[in-house]
Amino acid sequence: MSECQADACELLTPMEIYKTLTAQGNKVRALKSENADKADIDTAVQLLLKMKCEYKKLTGQDYKAGCPPTEDITSPENGPGSEDGDDVVDPWNVTTNNAKGVDYDKLIVRFGSSKIDKELVDRIEKVTGQQAHRFLRRGIFFSHRDMHQVLDAYEKNKSFYLYTGRGPSSEAMHVGHLIPFIFTKWLQEVFNIPLVIQMTDDEKYLWKDLTLEECHRYTVENARDIIACGFDVNKTFIFSDLDYMGMSPSFYRNVVKVQKHVTFNQVKGIFGFTDSDCIGKISFPAIQAAPSFSSSFPQIFNGRKDVPCLIPCAIDQDPYFRMTRDVAPRIGYIKPALLHSTFFPALQGAQTKMSASDPNSSIFLTDTPKQIKNKINKHAFSGGKDTIEEHRQFGGNADVDVSFMYLTFFLDDDEQLEKIRQDYTSGALLTGELKKCLIETLQPMISAHQDRRKQVTDEIVQQFMTPRKLDFEY
Ligand code: TYM
Repeated sequence: MSECQADACELLTPMEIYKTLTAQGNKVRALKSENADKADIDTAVQLLLKMKCEYKKLTGQDYKAGCPPTEDITSPENGPGSEDGDDVVDPWNVTTNNAKGVDYDKLIVRFGSSKIDKELVDRIEKVTGQQAHRFLRRGIFFSHRDMHQVLDAYEKNKSFYLYTGRGPSSEAMHVGHLIPFIFTKWLQEVFNIPLVIQMTDDEKYLWKDLTLEECHRYTVENARDIIACGFDVNKTFIFSDLDYMGMSPSFYRNVVKVQKHVTFNQVKGIFGFTDSDCIGKISFPAIQAAPSFSSSFPQIFNGRKDVPCLIPCAIDQDPYFRMTRDVAPRIGYIKPALLHSTFFPALQGAQTKMSASDPNSSIFLTDTPKQIKNKINKHAFSGGKDTIEEHRQFGGNADVDVSFMYLTFFLDDDEQLEKIRQDYTSGALLTGELKKCLIETLQPMISAHQDRRKQVTDEIVQQFMTPRKLDFEY
């Protein structure tokens, strides 16, 4: 192992470094007990010592096997049900005990990202000359990495590109999946820049009980939904990993570069892989990393490797990009910048995100107006009181009410939203009325999406998915 791999610790969380350190300690012990080559043992010990220094620098604590880092974070007031350290956020699970949802301020500290504050929102408005999207105004996109650098460069007429993606695990996407795509479309419009969308059909084949053919078919079906969000065909390239990897030597070369610079220990620390995970999973993060580098798309960027990349996604995808940002300078590339969103909650409450694997938790883009109405009336967790009399007297709790949360994502009018919040909190607005308001917002929105999707022909999908030159000036 090289020194670089110890330096690689700098962007990992304390817990991730702790796990990597523990694995490295085990390795040293194993080498010693096998009476391995002295040089190998020395190298492993050196790396262990370097990692311990990094750990101390980051946490202020000495590493001790069996004693994970204690969080030195003052938790903001977070309402009932919140217990320290309970939130789980990774690419596969999102859970919290708090009915208000994940403690995002704490997550920013844990992941080492930065808060999207008013200053940044104002700056985006100034640079684009447009009112900030409601997702920015309302803190739905709440965290970032290096967004100021992207704006600095943009102000000096240096453009950038957007990269986002979807893991096509089923035919129908849910409303939560729309969040990054709606926002990405807005970014594409206001900055007038190209966009690449990765469809990780390979990832879904590796993780789920699906055939390669099913995953590839879901790619095409999901691409229709993504296109229906309104992306500009002259500025958007959608690709299936299963297709593009074999078609693009430049893309594959970047995948291999990343693979060479991340150790098994590191991905174990970041993603929690175990010895019994298949090797496809272990090397997959390199495939999600590669589109962050402009040289993966020579047809778009004329072979340039210095075009900055901005990735909008929900914060569950951050582990992939912590790894990517860590590797980038070591392989001669720029670190991608990120904009992270909160999670669109499950119908049953903000303790989990809306997830396709639980159909009752989700409103799908294929749902009929009747299904939408029934799901909301039956399953949407309410912050209202048990009886009308109590509700009128004490009011409802908008902070835990799923219908209100959904409206914060989709009702564009700030004043109307604030009035609903006040009326619900005072008791003037009943739960049934709040739900009706949500139903009347979602039904036309989803019907309009379905109409636009019907217009997306096979030829249009083919156009978006063909590697080609896009409108782009740098
Ligand atoms: P996937 O298919 O799980 O999710 C697609 C995108 O939707 C976001 N997302 C959500 N956002 C808000 N609320 C929710 N309930 C919710 N559920 C999912 C995800 O964060 C993601 O942005 N491995 C990825 C595919 C991928 C990707 C990327 C995503 C490849 N490259 C680059 C983002 C950026 C995946 O399986 O996403």
